[in-house]
Amino acid sequence: MMKTITVFKGDGIGPEIVDAVLNILNAAQVPLNYEIFEVGEAEYKRNGKLIPDAAYASFEKNKVLLKAPITTPIGKGFRSLNVTLRKKYDLYANIRPAKSNAAIKTLFSNVDIITFRENTEDLYVGVEEQIDENTVYATKIITKKASERIIKDAFEYAKKHGRKKVTCVHKANILKMSDGMFLNIFKEIAQAYPEIESDDKIVDNTCMQLVMHPEKFDVIVTPNLYGDIISDLTSGLIGGLGLLPSCNLGSEYAMFEAVHGSAPDIAGKNIANPTALLWSACMMLDNLDMQSYATRIRKAVDEVLLESRCLTPDINGNATTKQYCEAIIEKL
Ligand code: NAI
Repeated sequence: MMKTITVFKGDGIGPEIVDAVLNILNAAQVPLNYEIFEVGEAEYKRNGKLIPDAAYASFEKNKVLLKAPITTPIGKGFRSLNVTLRKKYDLYANIRPAKSNAAIKTLFSNVDIITFRENTEDLYVGVEEQIDENTVYATKIITKKASERIIKDAFEYAKKHGRKKVTCVHKANILKMSDGMFLNIFKEIAQAYPEIESDDKIVDNTCMQLVMHPEKFDVIVTPNLYGDIISDLTSGLIGGLGLLPSCNLGSEYAMFEAVHGSAPDIAGKNIANPTALLWSACMMLDNLDMQSYATRIRKAVDEVLLESRCLTPDINGNATTKQYCEAIIEKL
């Protein structure tokens, strides 16, 4: 049966990688209809709205969104639309799997780390206050409810997928109350999963360990900011941001997007790597009980990567986005 999903084309490389991914999904005859919207800076310049009302309405109807990256102004301007969407639809679990691919040569061949990033609070609540000319306060919020649900999800995922260990990443040595509470909740919940090893690490030590011994990590669960930083680090371990997919899940809505941003430095050049968004789309297909399509697409990507004849520049090739996409379609 056909299912309808919402698609946001986003900024920068967004439209290029969305076109590439939809061409591949169509070539794989995935039974999906798409309601496609322009969102972001360009849309704001055209129509005065970053996300048109019709785009919100479509997501609210379809409940599933495939989203391209959106540019956020730095140090000024509007609040991140990504953060807004995650908060508005309570997409509390940001899940980011980083797995080595045999075809991509990196320092380590054995990375298989999945980060569960709390997605609705921490410093991302965006509460900043000018105290005086030389002082600004930023508020970090950690709640029991949000901590419990992301930590439970991480353990449930580990249990369901036969993962061996869950590591809590924090800075509870300094942030004794906020991260301290997150860590205490983690320790409590871990007791309900005696079959799964659990440990915790301070975030700075985690970064060092990740770049020296990534094999020590399996599932990571962590508050919002550390999750953002650590998951970009894990993308570096597997070959770069062009390869790291993600999903943002809540109890009602689901949003699938690449971890990377709008990459303005390469926008419009037809050289962006669409794999991260394509693999995010595969996570979406898994979520929609369309695993057979996801498996076929992942296999086609693996074959193209392994042949190494048609790769985008970020993974040491010289193919365009379109050529890479055509190579995948040929395999399908
Ligand atoms: P970025 O992730 O856009 O780019 C970082 C570097 O990685 C750049 O050199 C870029 O060319 C490269 N890169 C990223 N994706 C790639 C791909 N698919 N193929 C090949 N190379 C790729 O991060 P940056 O430059 O810090 O942010 C640009 C904008 O994106 C900012 O406005 C930021 O706020 C926004 N952003 C949006 C996100 C989202 O919509 N979920 C997530 C992260 C950033």
